[in-house]
Amino acid sequence: LNAVIRAVVKTAINEYGWEVLGIEDGFEGLIKPHKAHLLDIKDVRGLLSRGGTMLGSTNRANPFHYEVSTNGAVKVFDVSETVLQCARDYGLDGLLVIGGDGTMRIAQELMQKGLHVVGVPKTIDNDLYGTEVTVGFDTAVNTAMEALDKLHTTAESHHRVLVIELMGRHAGWIALAAGVAGGADVILIPEIPYDLDVITEKVQQRNQSGAQFSIMVVPEGSKPRGGAAVYQAGRDVGGVSRLGGIREVVAAQVRRLCQTDVRVTVLGHLQRGGSPTAFDRLLATRFGAMAVHVMAQGTVGHMVALHHGHITT
Ligand code: F6P
Repeated sequence: LNAVIRAVVKTAINEYGWEVLGIEDGFEGLIKPHKAHLLDIKDVRGLLSRGGTMLGSTNRANPFHYEVSTNGAVKVFDVSETVLQCARDYGLDGLLVIGGDGTMRIAQELMQKGLHVVGVPKTIDNDLYGTEVTVGFDTAVNTAMEALDKLHTTAESHHRVLVIELMGRHAGWIALAAGVAGGADVILIPEIPYDLDVITEKVQQRNQSGAQFSIMVVPEGSKPRGGAAVYQAGRDVGGVSRLGGIREVVAAQVRRLCQTDVRVTVLGHLQRGGSPTAFDRLLATRFGAMAVHVMAQGTVGHMVALHHGHITT
């Protein structure tokens, strides 16, 4: 996110002489007052290597499904008109939106209400239509791969099956990329419901063949053939349910059926942190610059994208 912000600010100011307003905490910054400030070149200095966003973020501020809690009771409102009014008050000519599918969906609805929106795809999940890669994916994959490298130490030494739960929601991109790069023995992906027999056969075959350990990548959105994904009870955020827990289901089944020692690791938000990889810095920089050019051309409702190595929309 920071690398995108840096590229946007530099391109907008250096190439077009525009004023750039940084909206804080996502759409919340257009719902509540005093949550925006001018961004200058000096404000984005040193940002490239810093993960996260200097502007803050939230997944609780969908203007079309805005939750307000009073005395413990939660009510949902459509505050999209507030956003449009706020954009007018700030004198915005356009809104550059950086985020994943939820963010883009909101952006599209705001565009339909008249806002000049340009999107930059950013999510570790890599689950956005129209672009081959999203910003953040490569960094998350590298973090997960390093975790797999480290898990090999214990798995091999203690002759264990180690299960690692990775993020990605209903997309298996992180699991598949990190799993292959990290040499996992079993890689589940949500897109292909798993067959327990195939998993146990693989683990048993490795136990008998002398390997005597297995590393299993279980993304949070995994589900068994004919079964459902596992959600965390009471953890809905902004109307969206939170996945998590399938690792224990798979681990218990493998433990029982293979009569082997199985341990579980949850990588969690480590996948979303740290300094971005060179690939992500480059992608973010190219996306950010392109988004400003798209906005300058007056093209409404486009998202920048990577296609066959080229930045397009
Ligand atoms: O969409 C990115 C993501 O990290 C998913 O992979 C994960 O399911 C979700 O966000 C976690 O969200 P939160 O930080 O709100 O728990």
